[in-house]
Amino acid sequence: MPLEVRVDAIRYLAEDTHAYEFVSRSGIALPTASPGDHVDVHLPNGLVRQYSLWELRPDRYVIAVKRDPASRGGSRFLHEEIRVGTRLLVGEPRNHFSFDLGATHSVFVAGGIGITPIMTMVDHAAANGMSWELHYATRSNHTGFTEALARHGDRVRFWGSRTASQPLDIAALIGSSDPAAHFYCCGPESMIAAFREAAQAIPEERVRFERFGAMPVESNHNGFTVVLARSGRAVPVPPGTTILDALLAEGLDLPFSCQQGVCGQCETKVLAGAPDHHDQILTDDERASGETMMICCSGSKEGRLVLDL
Ligand code: FES
Repeated sequence: MPLEVRVDAIRYLAEDTHAYEFVSRSGIALPTASPGDHVDVHLPNGLVRQYSLWELRPDRYVIAVKRDPASRGGSRFLHEEIRVGTRLLVGEPRNHFSFDLGATHSVFVAGGIGITPIMTMVDHAAANGMSWELHYATRSNHTGFTEALARHGDRVRFWGSRTASQPLDIAALIGSSDPAAHFYCCGPESMIAAFREAAQAIPEERVRFERFGAMPVESNHNGFTVVLARSGRAVPVPPGTTILDALLAEGLDLPFSCQQGVCGQCETKVLAGAPDHHDQILTDDERASGETMMICCSGSKEGRLVLDL
């Protein structure tokens, strides 16, 4: 069940980026959050959006939101309509970007607003005497992010800013790092792609990444049929439609939130067929197993897909 909260404070963090602080409306303590967690924010305009926690504080959830010029109503609505005192619903903290607290050394790579999920990890690592380093690619020298990171001294290295204009070479960084380290990355698509390529030889359990923006949802170009195993019903998914949309149109009551393959709410068990994965959550091994899929964005490589619904 979503939690009833009130906006207790809004802070300027960086250009076009605000921190929103949510406190419990009932006075009942909010569930504890962990490093790398995010929360679903249910906006009064009906949208549900996922935002990383920017700080871990016992009495509140703090998210950082950059206004996206291409926003379809999430960040734009927060920046334009949300005020101190606004009542909202937020989901309990969830995590698709887990931080290994037992790592001998952690290497964090972040770009721009991608620092947000990593911030709680580095704060936790610093507070608990862990070994870590952060490489942050940013165009600006003076943002709330750089100021917040300054407290960590030379564990944080800035790349691409006006004073440190050298670009970050992710392949060189990973190639010269402790091979037993754990690696984390959040940033734009080009950064994630370079990170994944550079980390190919590292065991999957030591490589974690999270996109800060959803990839465009792939449309289904050919059309296929989904069979609902529990009833035997066959539902056509026409070209250009998602499985989720086709099933909702048939009247099914299904869990979903982001509709962009980033939240995991629509994950569904696959009983037969070959899913065409386009989500941002499953690992390569999970994709290869074909056991589950995100029906909001993924399709089928074959004409028939049987789901555990
Ligand atoms: S609804 Fe969020 S992953 Fe499908």
